[in-house]
Amino acid sequence: MCGDLRSADVGSTVTVCGWVDSRREHSQHLAFIDLRDRSGVVQVIVDGNHDLRSEYVAKVTGTVAERIEGTANANLATGDIEIRDCEVEILSEAEPPPFPMDERTDVDETIRLRHRYVDLRKSRMQKNLRTRAKVNSAIRTAMEEQGFVEIETPMLIASTPEGARDFVVPSRQKPGNFYALPQSPQIFKQLCMVGGIDRYYQIARCMRDEDLRADRQFEFMQLDAEASFVTQEDVFEFISHAIRGATEAVTGERPGDIPRITWDDAMERYGSDKPDTRFGMELENLTEVFASTEFNAFKAERVMGIRVPGGAEFSRSKLDDLTDMVKRWGGKGLVWMKVEDDLTLNSPVAKFCSDDELAGIKEKLGAEAGDVLFLVADRKRRTQHLLGLLRVELGRPPVTEGGLNYLWVVDFPLFEDISDDGKPVPAHHPFTMPHADDIELLESAEGEELLDVRSQAYDLVLNGWELGSGSVRIHRSDVQSRIFEILGIGEEEAQLKFGFLLDAFKYGAPPHAGFAFGIDRVAAILAGEENIREVIAFPKTQSGADPLTKAPTAIDDTQLEELGLRVLPQAE
Ligand code: AMO
Ligand code: AMP
Repeated sequence: MCGDLRSADVGSTVTVCGWVDSRREHSQHLAFIDLRDRSGVVQVIVDGNHDLRSEYVAKVTGTVAERIEGTANANLATGDIEIRDCEVEILSEAEPPPFPMDERTDVDETIRLRHRYVDLRKSRMQKNLRTRAKVNSAIRTAMEEQGFVEIETPMLIASTPEGARDFVVPSRQKPGNFYALPQSPQIFKQLCMVGGIDRYYQIARCMRDEDLRADRQFEFMQLDAEASFVTQEDVFEFISHAIRGATEAVTGERPGDIPRITWDDAMERYGSDKPDTRFGMELENLTEVFASTEFNAFKAERVMGIRVPGGAEFSRSKLDDLTDMVKRWGGKGLVWMKVEDDLTLNSPVAKFCSDDELAGIKEKLGAEAGDVLFLVADRKRRTQHLLGLLRVELGRPPVTEGGLNYLWVVDFPLFEDISDDGKPVPAHHPFTMPHADDIELLESAEGEELLDVRSQAYDLVLNGWELGSGSVRIHRSDVQSRIFEILGIGEEEAQLKFGFLLDAFKYGAPPHAGFAFGIDRVAAILAGEENIREVIAFPKTQSGADPLTKAPTAIDDTQLEELGLRVLPQAE
């Protein structure tokens, strides 16, 4: 390969194939070509008459020679040698590339994706896709070492309970009817457990019609796993084995034991169910300090604060921007206090606080000269949430810094919210087993009290990204029916949507539990990328389009007719 040649190869005759990375004219008769393949580049000296332009594909046979003194390139693995006396065969001519091929120029993403096949030639994408392949391969090895069987579940299914919108596929043979593409293999893996598979895994493609972001695509890959007769602890063990194997395959270092935090602690300390523990800046509860305050804004269920070391330098306009940000996130406001050299608190609202309150703030937050303190008052959950977002905004290191902080978040609540029509919204999917200690509460709780019911659900977090989720499942149809009832899913609806699962449970279902983590996400972080699109060969843009194939596209009338479909006129 081009990138493999070294001084030890001097004197040998070699043949290399690749793309013309760059060309410099040496004299009328000689040109320097950098030839590139997946392994790197090598300098090739060719007759100046060869019409070898940028991105032409060529086959070169010649002799490896030491570069003349003073011309070696220490930045290049092949920098000591070059190939001389070359015979050149042009395998393909090429139009000028659609964007500069050097790694430094930032190219608009739509243009990169429009010509992804050229973009993939760059070393960043070459490296990222190989990183991803290492992750997949290590996961397979780790799961198989633990006795998991790879099973492929169908893509054309009825519907999934993950809570996003389904992508649907019209049926030609039954016009007016639709398949849904799976949002996950959830139901099928549970059916595998009823089917005695015992340990299932799949590197599964999942499809969800939701708004795209840096960590979200319509289609994405999961390591999906499920096992029978296991506890939550067993799940942690087999998933840890896979994630540690994948990490080691990429970084060469095997992570140690993955620490745990309860969901409630995560919310109290970090204001997030996916805490980024690469940095401190933890939330402190100041409610007691303001128990009998005169300051109206702080007469709230919760008052909390964070301390930003060195933040006293923040300009007034930066502080105003942060305040606006908190309001956009749904807050009523943001109080800032700069800690002066004599430890007095400089803040527009200091005059509304008593001396005891000011002393209490300083003590609780451990204020030091030069800090800025941020305080928020609101309902408990919103206070945590707002300061959690602010903490990440102010403290989150770039993806390549601060190490890899894996974290299990355990004891998730069973419900994440109560909807406007009074129904609890499941925090995971509706097959999640309630926490053994909270079964009674589940039966007696009403309204907001339901939010205190814990579940046997857990997440895996890496550097502030949710990598994966799982739970112990309900395996009895009576308990499952009861949960559907609480969720306001009527018997008829439950039968229609999941009747086959409830039926299956009647034929001998083992207790089971499982997990799924996003391969795009773990690959991105391991590759040092902030966006999962950088580790996907052919991703969609933020708006869900594929600039290369132009998908989504209209289909012709014949096809529509076959499917029994008619397209309504679109609103402007
Ligand atoms: P969940 O819905 O939490 O759980 O998904 C698991 C993981 O899949 C990844 N993920 C995504 N990655 C990229 N783009 C998306 N749009 C996207 N949506 C999800 C995330 C997420 O943590 N069946 C359950 C798992 C189980 O209970 O076993 C499930 O799918 O990394
Ligand atoms: P106000 O009394 O609404 O003019 O607010 C005075 C200051 O307190 C402003 O700086 C607001 O941003 C801030 N503030 C108001 N409500 C809250 C709140 N609930 N939490 C934190 N800061 C607040």
